Amino acid sequence: MKVKSKNAFLKVLPSIVLIILFIILIRVFLVAPAGAEKLTVISDTEYDPAVWGKIYPLEYNSYLKNKEMAVSPTGFGGSIKLQKSIRQPEMLMNFKGNAFSKDYSEDRGHPYSMDDLKESKRVTPKTPGSCMTCKTPNLRDVYKDMGWNYAKTPLAELLSRIKHPISCANCHDPQGMQLRVSNPAFIEAMGKRGIDVAKAPRQDMRSYVCGQCHSEYYLEPKTSRVIFPWDKGLKPQEIYAYYKDVPSGFEMDWQHPDSQAKMLKAQHPDFELASNGFHSKFGLACANCHMPFMLEGGVKYSSHWVTSPLKHIQASCSTCHQQDEQLILERVKTKQNNVFQLLHTAGQTIARAHEVLGKAGAAPKVNKADLDKARELLRNAQWLWDFFAAENSMGFHNTDEAQNTLKQSNDLAQQAIAMASKAAGTQN
Ligand code: HEC
Ligand code: HEC
Ligand code: HEC
Ligand code: HEC
Repeated sequence: MKVKSKNAFLKVLPSIVLIILFIILIRVFLVAPAGAEKLTVISDTEYDPAVWGKIYPLEYNSYLKNKEMAVSPTGFGGSIKLQKSIRQPEMLMNFKGNAFSKDYSEDRGHPYSMDDLKESKRVTPKTPGSCMTCKTPNLRDVYKDMGWNYAKTPLAELLSRIKHPISCANCHDPQGMQLRVSNPAFIEAMGKRGIDVAKAPRQDMRSYVCGQCHSEYYLEPKTSRVIFPWDKGLKPQEIYAYYKDVPSGFEMDWQHPDSQAKMLKAQHPDFELASNGFHSKFGLACANCHMPFMLEGGVKYSSHWVTSPLKHIQASCSTCHQQDEQLILERVKTKQNNVFQLLHTAGQTIARAHEVLGKAGAAPKVNKADLDKARELLRNAQWLWDFFAAENSMGFHNTDEAQNTLKQSNDLAQQAIAMASKAAGTQN
């Protein structure tokens, strides 16, 4: 009986081997290509996040949360479109003569980038195409076709080519999902600092994908090309020194109608401030706090809900800070309140300086050289103030630098007032 069954087994053995071979062949030729297809199915010109979401549902579902609108846990920032001048009315005076005095609201989630660009009262028929640079993945095709010529083309002419707000393709190569930077201005500026973004280590890329948009820039006169002013460094004073050299003929963003000072407008220098901050020195990237790892059904993924990290302290902070969550929140709020107080004070002193310089300019026997010195002091004061009025964390990303710089700003504004009074021969 035993021998018989052994013989029977030997008889079916070839069939078993054949079946196993068949299964292996099916896996190699049918299942494996299907797996490979999973990586290549998204085309290089696919900008619709919903299409990417079919393959990466966890990331896509968390991306959709960016549409939620709520106040932030600290009361600063937040995802609701509120005019910044409600809390800081001095902005209306400090940005007088500039479009930012007409409309300057809190930023909100990435899916709103195109709606908010179109709705902004700062946008006019003359607005250059450069404004689309940080709002849409469609920039990739426009840049491929037109090069930097897109920057001076009116935005209104390019709008028909823009189909999606910020989405997956801004930060990912669909072939393999590696992080990539799409903004040519960032790649150029980092190149000038000796950094090849294409070869950057993964942890650096986890900040660079954000830094390509969350940075200070100016538009080159005539071409409207986007330039990051980083040749002398990323600190507020270093960037001011860069602008002092009138780079590519760029002298100012606008002239203030009262003080006649030649002003600079700072734009969201989150990357610059965070780069020199405490947490960066400890090796943290933007994504560590703003896109922490989450677990769902045993699967680990990066949260794509890019918002205040204090909405998920456990995932963002507790990996290092083991204190009670409420204590962490209180600590952040205290730091932000201190920064806000200095920001508000400096902003108010600057507003007063514009007024005093305006009056001094109208005085009959004004000393022109001294008045020009006062204007230079005021321009410097406002730059240092605006750096922190424009960055988005109310100083959290680098509290020491915020406090130190805002004190300097207030001091320079006081000096501007004293110099203008001297120029006009009045007391203020
Ligand atoms: C603002 C930039 C940005 C955008 C937009 C973005 N991602 Fe990511 N994504 C990241 C970062 C940063 C990581 C973390 C990468 C790492 O640690 O190497 C990541 C990781 C991933 C990963 C790897 C697995 C994981 O979860 O860590 C997938 C898959 C992914 N993203 C899918 C998407 C999809 C789908 C979209 C669009 C719905 C999208 N991403 C939009 C920045 C972005
Ligand atoms: C393609 C440009 C671009 C990239 C890339 C980008 N951002 Fe943004 N980000 C914006 C713009 C524009 C807004 C404002 C959108 C609005 O208000 O309509 C914004 C808004 C935000 C907000 C405010 C959200 C809220 O709910 O208030 C946070 C936080 C943020 N970004 C962080 C990041 C981080 C972190 C990264 C990298 C992982 C990143 N961003 C990458 C352009 C970008
Ligand atoms: C150590 C953690 C940490 C790192 C690293 C970090 N951030 Fe933040 N970020 C915060 C906190 C905390 C806030 C304040 C949130 C609040 O007030 O609710 C914030 C606020 C912001 C906001 C404003 C959010 C809003 O509600 O409008 C933006 C935009 C932002 N960060 C971008 C960045 C970028 C870009 C980087 C990298 C260059 C970065 N952050 C690095 C913790 C971090
Ligand atoms: C990878 C580790 C790490 C993560 C994640 C991290 N921190 Fe920190 N943090 C540090 C280190 C290290 C210090 C400096 C040593 C200290 O004060 O404990 C620090 C310091 C601080 C300080 C004190 C700085 C001061 O001058 O008062 C605050 C507040 C803070 N972190 C808040 C946060 C918040 C909020 C988050 C999450 C959004 C966060 N941290 C995420 C490592 C981290």
